[in-house]
Amino acid sequence: MSTDTYARVDAYLDDLFGGPDPQLQQALARSETEGLPPISVSSNLGRFLHVLTLACGARQVLEIGTLGGYSAIWMARALPDGGRLVSLEFDRHHAGVAQRNVSEAGLSERVDIRVGPALDTLGDMVRQGEGPFDMVFIDADKPPYTEYLQAAVRLARPGTLIVADNVVRGGEVAAGPSKDEAVAGMQRFNAAMASHPRLRGAIVQGVGAKGHDGMAFAVVSE
Ligand code: SAH
Ligand code: DHB
Ligand code: MG
Repeated sequence: MSTDTYARVDAYLDDLFGGPDPQLQQALARSETEGLPPISVSSNLGRFLHVLTLACGARQVLEIGTLGGYSAIWMARALPDGGRLVSLEFDRHHAGVAQRNVSEAGLSERVDIRVGPALDTLGDMVRQGEGPFDMVFIDADKPPYTEYLQAAVRLARPGTLIVADNVVRGGEVAAGPSKDEAVAGMQRFNAAMASHPRLRGAIVQGVGAKGHDGMAFAVVSE
């Protein structure tokens, strides 16, 4: 099986669910024009995040790593009236593009993009007693994923679902100690999630138009 086959299946799945959505296509097109890197989740995984948001009955979602707002739009569309998605982004330009994309998708009332290094913003949120969030999606820079996980647990309640992107990295996480700090960050995160006393987790590897990677899923207990 090749990446071509994976991409063909992703295209088949997109067609199955009605083809490209204009607002999401527009968000990706603007992100590209504005020079953002093409690292948002695939449409198929975006749809999966949407379904997970619904399955959680989430009213409050926290995202770490906004980019152009693509995954934020998928999740925010699954929120009920009065629901909120807080999304954290370090890069002011990315946040500006995301704000525009979210607003053109008619979601500015539901999406709150906060600019700054996520570790700082998360620290402020914990100190101010924000939350609890019903679902957290971790998808920012890879080395501090473990610290993002710890903050996510502090901002959670029993039953909160924590999801993390890119935890398999083309299989490199299984190849022993790595000099690549993104891979090392993921190995540290995966081990922290697996042994956390308040988390029941699983990691699912997958393939698609963006290659081979995986997502972690963990539910917070008492
Ligand atoms: N969730 C997005 C993709 C996020 S890409 C989607 O699927 O559509 C990762 C994003 O994390 C980038 O926009 C990057 O600027 C941001 N980022 C990197 N380091 C960060 C940090 N320390 N704090 C917050 N955001 C950060
Ligand atoms: C990168 C980051 C991501 O969140 C992703 O899904 C793919 C790649 C990166 O930084 O290379
Ligand atoms: Mg990612």
